[in-house]
Amino acid sequence: MKNARNSFHQFYIFLFFLAGFVSVKAQQTPALIPQPTSITTGKASFTVTPNTTIHVANGSPFGNEAALLAELFQNSFGQPLSQTTKASPNQISLKHDKTITAAEGYRISITAKETVVAAGSPVGMFRAVQTIRQLLPPSVEGKAQGAKLVLPAVEIDDAPSFGWRGIHLDVSRHFFSLDYVKKLIDLMALYKLNKFHFHLTDDQGWRVEIKKYPKLTEEGAWRSFNNQDSVCMERAKENPDFIIDPKHIVSKDGKQLYGGFYTQVQLKELVAYAVARHIEIIPEIDMPGHMMAAINSYNYLSCDSTSRFGQFFSTPICPCNPSTIQFAKDIFTEIMDIFPSKYIHIGGDEVDRTYWEKSDACKALMQKEGMKNSAELQAWFIRQMESFFNANGKKLIGWDEILEGGVTKTATIMYWRTWVPHAPVEAAKSGNNVIMTPGNPMYFSDQPDKNSLPAVYNYEMIPKELTPTEAKRIVGGQGNLWTEYIPTEQRADYLYMPRLTALAENLWSGKKNYSSYLQRLNTHYERLDYLDVSYRLPDLELLNEYAFTEATVLSVKKPFDELIIRYTLDGSAPTSASAELKGPLPIRQSAQVRLAAFTKGGRRGDVQDVHFKKQSWAKAHNLVAPKKGLEAIWYKRSFDSTSLISGSPDGKFTVSTVSVPAEAKAETFALQFRGYIDVPQQGIYTFYLTSDDASFLRIAGREVVNNDGMHPPRERNGQVALQKGSHPFALDFIEGGGGFTLRLKYSLNGSEPKDIPAGWLKH
Ligand code: ACM
Repeated sequence: MKNARNSFHQFYIFLFFLAGFVSVKAQQTPALIPQPTSITTGKASFTVTPNTTIHVANGSPFGNEAALLAELFQNSFGQPLSQTTKASPNQISLKHDKTITAAEGYRISITAKETVVAAGSPVGMFRAVQTIRQLLPPSVEGKAQGAKLVLPAVEIDDAPSFGWRGIHLDVSRHFFSLDYVKKLIDLMALYKLNKFHFHLTDDQGWRVEIKKYPKLTEEGAWRSFNNQDSVCMERAKENPDFIIDPKHIVSKDGKQLYGGFYTQVQLKELVAYAVARHIEIIPEIDMPGHMMAAINSYNYLSCDSTSRFGQFFSTPICPCNPSTIQFAKDIFTEIMDIFPSKYIHIGGDEVDRTYWEKSDACKALMQKEGMKNSAELQAWFIRQMESFFNANGKKLIGWDEILEGGVTKTATIMYWRTWVPHAPVEAAKSGNNVIMTPGNPMYFSDQPDKNSLPAVYNYEMIPKELTPTEAKRIVGGQGNLWTEYIPTEQRADYLYMPRLTALAENLWSGKKNYSSYLQRLNTHYERLDYLDVSYRLPDLELLNEYAFTEATVLSVKKPFDELIIRYTLDGSAPTSASAELKGPLPIRQSAQVRLAAFTKGGRRGDVQDVHFKKQSWAKAHNLVAPKKGLEAIWYKRSFDSTSLISGSPDGKFTVSTVSVPAEAKAETFALQFRGYIDVPQQGIYTFYLTSDDASFLRIAGREVVNNDGMHPPRERNGQVALQKGSHPFALDFIEGGGGFTLRLKYSLNGSEPKDIPAGWLKH
């Protein structure tokens, strides 16, 4: 009976899927990212052939956009589509429609007979052309000549939610070729991003030619390998993406030097490339901190004519010397000549002001201007620069530290310090425009894991504390790439992609739907392959540690069909010669399995290490009159690893959940949670432990999750076989500075991860 019912049920499910499949096939919604505001699909399609013409009326403002659209067909047809001012059937028509007033807005209507693209402005038309690009098959991006190019019948009405949709690249810590920057701009264009924040200078290298101060690039663009390069060289032993890019290494006087810079001519060419794609390049010349590359060549810029890296930050320039102010104005004069952007980013982050506090020139200036402290001196410097920018028709952007010591209402604040959550709220409330780039999750330089993509996708740009009117001050968001440990274009691609697409949808599309986005994303990888983007492959859904009592199987769902999963059992990293995991792999003994996904082209995703631990059911303890909650033992000092937490505690608290008690907060600290966890039934329990920084979970004296070490918010997980009842629970946590995260969830029998019920915790 049971079997019969099951097979009937399966047959029914089969029919259901078949029906679903057929109807989805007939009217499949195109996999656009970002998802348009409104899209409806029809059954027909419009076929583009080499004879299809692009119709642009005489005097149309869309000449540039028509040319870029025509170029899209170069690869497939060996020539661009031709343009005409005469209307005829079977055309792609670009229409100037002044009723489309939304910034960057456009409409597309595709039928079997014609494709009509309408916009009120060239920027709207350009965004529409990128939608057409995504509606075409991925092969348009490559040399797939002879491909049939079909545009599905759709009606699209689209405009973005946010005006600032940015990507940042630091070219100081490691240098990137102009070609790579153009490739990035093209990728931004594909996903409708519109602001490129170009971090051109920092302690480790000056990358922009300044004619008045030639030593900035003659000397400041080149360096001997530094300690960050050494870290890359070490990592390169395991991962070729960390090999210092040989094209940026030169020999000079018998010495190897690393670096490079852009001439003003090259930068103007880059600006023209970006302008054609409706992307604004915002140059950042970071000061008064992060200026060692300049100080090393022009010593008078610092208060004591020396420079060094201090405990946290480097020597800043000295705003109290008139020659420093003149230097800054000279630099920005040349920068304004290169970059037409209405914004200039002054940096303003991470300034060690103690140098100013010791300087006689600064003491005198502070007295003259009635400044109470060095924060006000920093604010004074930023104001000097903002007046200069404004006098030249430009607006100032600075990192959120420029709020300290007071800031004008006209400055735009770029929020990055995740651990100062009130900064964007206060800035918006006091009338400043704010761009959201909180380190977590918007620093794309942080090593991604399976949680990074949803974190970027679901990040709420508008802080809850803001009223609808105040919320208008949040002009958008941005993903940042700091390149201390990113020496190659491949590594940069891996970190940007696919997070850049999640950010693009977050900022463009009013509504969010992560599972729909993921499905659409899966169809974008082929296009990215054509574009030679070294994107990060999707994670395999695996735990870090599995527990079992008799025998189990390892089975992995492929994120998409084209991937091949390979594994090893001998501890070596999988290669394209390793065994393929074709079905469930039986596991009977404790084992370490290393797995990775491979593309058909042979590119490997992250190697994922999985441990299988054979264990008995842990026996429950009998507790006599236990108290509710856990004990939390607090150490108000810094440790590098949970194994080093020792000495006398600074406090003891009782907590009902695994969380940091309000009294136990400090810049750096450690906590040991101790007690018992009382589970309601025997089972293999999975625990998910997310922390920034270190954490370590032991249950029943067994290691369950090892999330040790200093790192950004990161989840590790593991399992333990528990009998019903109470088991010793020990969780160690370290906050190493810069803001903490601590979260523990559990699941049983494949349930979604859930919070630990307070009633389970005892001591
Ligand atoms: C920054 O990350 N220092 C802006």
